[in-house]
Amino acid sequence: MAYLQSLNTTHSALSIQSKNYKTLSFKPHTAKISSCLVSDVGTKPITTANSTSVSHMSKELMEADKSVMVGTYARTPVVLERGIGSKVYDVDGKEYLDMAAGIAVNSLGHADPDWLKAVTDQASILTHVSNVFYSVPQVKLAQRLIECSFADRVFFSNSGTEANEAAIKFSRKYQRHTHPDSTDPPTEFIAFSNSFHGRTLGSLALTSKEQYRAPFEPIMPGVTFVDYGNVAEVARLVKKGNVAAVFVEPLQGEGGIHSATKEFLLGLRSVCDEAGALLVFDEVQCGLGRTGHLWAHEAYGIYPDIMTLAKPLAGGLPIGAVLATQKVASAIKPGDHGSTFAGSPLVCHAALTVLNKINTPSFLSDVTKKGNYLKELLAKKLKGNMHVTEIRGMGLIVGIELDMPASGLVDECRENGVLVLTAGKGNVVRLVPPLVISMEELEFGAEIISKCLAAL
Ligand SMILES: Cc1ncc(COP(=O)(O)O)c(C=O)c1O
Repeated sequence: MAYLQSLNTTHSALSIQSKNYKTLSFKPHTAKISSCLVSDVGTKPITTANSTSVSHMSKELMEADKSVMVGTYARTPVVLERGIGSKVYDVDGKEYLDMAAGIAVNSLGHADPDWLKAVTDQASILTHVSNVFYSVPQVKLAQRLIECSFADRVFFSNSGTEANEAAIKFSRKYQRHTHPDSTDPPTEFIAFSNSFHGRTLGSLALTSKEQYRAPFEPIMPGVTFVDYGNVAEVARLVKKGNVAAVFVEPLQGEGGIHSATKEFLLGLRSVCDEAGALLVFDEVQCGLGRTGHLWAHEAYGIYPDIMTLAKPLAGGLPIGAVLATQKVASAIKPGDHGSTFAGSPLVCHAALTVLNKINTPSFLSDVTKKGNYLKELLAKKLKGNMHVTEIRGMGLIVGIELDMPASGLVDECRENGVLVLTAGKGNVVRLVPPLVISMEELEFGAEIISKCLAAL
């Protein structure tokens, strides 16, 4: 009871509806969304029956979902209805602090007024034309992306996996282009332990988790996985001359919030340069301000030949992008790749607004400040908890590694009004809040996490 009172005090100070919070109750824990799409921990799918706070209305919707959807998702039992800033509300009006942000997508939070205006303005003029025609927002967005990155050329897709799929094709085409006399140009790839690059067959082949790949074999052949950080092994493989590209996340999100070291990325850069292999940075999750740098690789001062982007770029609308140097782009010819929807005026106009808002020195330095504050808060509040083995991350992508599955904590946080994700092998709590989250909201989130963890 004392605990509930202390929570209520915190809530009202933060104007979060205290009526929405319940006394901690510990239930058997079941499967959770751990990464983009899948349940990772536990084996039982969530049933609405074991969630005490699920209303009749929500239950009905969840049952309906089960009867009409292909069962690819082990969803969390919450039916969200609306959002504003860093808060979301379910169909029963319960408020949550959203530290998941649609899996690192909603960087400007929900219903950002500038984003909303960009979407409605553009939708009232022109939404879609296909890539048969030119459109102004697509060119403007590409120009802005080039101005603020290493890249010379841009290709748009609709998602992260499609951006990586395009990067795979571009890498192979580049090798074919630069080995005109070879009947056997480099076609293979190197990816890393704990990598996540997507679910389509090429990107899936680069994704480390065996359980994601095994049911769909044969997938794209020719991928070798190396331990994240092991440059010597990459050097040994790349020297053989059959590697088209090395794919790496400068900071792994789904894999458990692991940051590369400078030596690692520097080593990859020089190994690739020596062998003529391309270096691809997948910044689908860690890019666009999430780390406090516009691009995560800027923290290291090491630049790729190709960078893939997606999640936050259009503020919640589907988009992906491949940013490439001229040397890569010059290998690509009309007809090599394409997409009906990608780069639509609507999505690109929204993305331009997102990029312009995030790409200011004060916005980015605020992300760094908030990220440091969040880690400080967690270090202080979780100090001495025997289950916490590490708190890590950069900017506002933070992981709390536990010595046990994180799903129980994720459940309790949700019951108490804070949405968080898991990552890694299911033992890491992943915090990827909107980049516009306030210091007070971070305090509230850290408080709930620590109280819920202490009670586990
Ligand atoms: C680093 C990384 N690459 C690629 C993807 C796939 O993106 P999408 O789900 O948009 O296909 C993800 C998704 O989580 C990711 O984190």
